[in-house]
Amino acid sequence: MNVLVVKANNRPSTEAISSKMYEAFMAELEGKNLNITTYDVYEEDTPFFGQDMFNAFGKVENDEELTDVESRLLAAKQKAMDAFSAADVVVFTFPLWNLTIPAKLQTFIDYVYAAGFSFKYGAEGNLIPLMTDKKAIFLNARGGVYSTPEAAPMEMAVNYMHNVFGGIFGMEIIDEVIIEGHNAMPDKRDEIIAKGIEEVKASAHRLADLTIKV
Ligand SMILES: Cc1cc2nc3c(=O)[nH]c(=O)nc-3n(C[C@H](O)[C@H](O)[C@H](O)COP(=O)(O)O)c2cc1C
Repeated sequence: MNVLVVKANNRPSTEAISSKMYEAFMAELEGKNLNITTYDVYEEDTPFFGQDMFNAFGKVENDEELTDVESRLLAAKQKAMDAFSAADVVVFTFPLWNLTIPAKLQTFIDYVYAAGFSFKYGAEGNLIPLMTDKKAIFLNARGGVYSTPEAAPMEMAVNYMHNVFGGIFGMEIIDEVIIEGHNAMPDKRDEIIAKGIEEVKASAHRLADLTIKV
C-alpha cells in the first residue's frame, strides 16, 4: 500500500500543534514497512492556480513556448497529480488558520481537483467521483472549539476537506483526529494536546494494521 502524507504546515512542532501531529504520526509509522511519501506543500514550488495555467494548457496544445511561471505551474500540477495517483491512502496534516486551510494546501487541492482526473460529469449532469478506490485520513488542529452546533458551520478546514475528498473525489475518510480548544482553554492546553497526540499515534497504528490486512 502506498501512503502519501500531505504536510501542510511549516511552523516548527515546538509551536505548531498540527506539525506536532505530523511528527507523532510519522514517528509511529517508522519501521512499519510502509511505502510512505511526504508531499510538503511548503517545500514545493507551487505557483497559484489561475489564467497562467489555462494559457499553459493552450500553449502545450499549440506547441508554443511556455513562460517561466507556465512551465513551473505545469510541472507542479503534474507532480501533485502523480503523487496523488500513486497513493492508496492520503494523510493530510493541517491546521485551521483563519477558519480555513493554509493557502499552500489550497493550491495543492487546486492542482488535483480536475474534471476527468478526480471527478467527471455523467450524461445527466450528475457528478461522478473518480477516486473511490482511495482512502483519506485527516489530522487537524484548531485553537478554538468548533465542534459545538453553533460554531460548526464556521469551520471551513475539516468541513472543506470532507467536501473535496469525501464528496467530490469520492474517497473513503477512514480516520480523523482533531485537536481543538487548546488556545480557548489554556488551563487544559497540555491535557488536550497530550490526549490528541495519543489519538494520532493510535491512528498511525490503525493505518499500519490496515496495510497489513490488505
Ligand atoms: C495564522 C493563524 C491563524 C489562526 N486562525 C485561527 C482561527 O481562525 N480560529 C482558531 O480557533 N484558531 C486559529 N489559530 C490557532 C490555530 O488553530 C492553532 O494554533 C492550531 O494549533 C492549529 O495551528 P498550528 O498547527 O499552526 O498550531 C490560528 C493560528 C495561526 C498561526
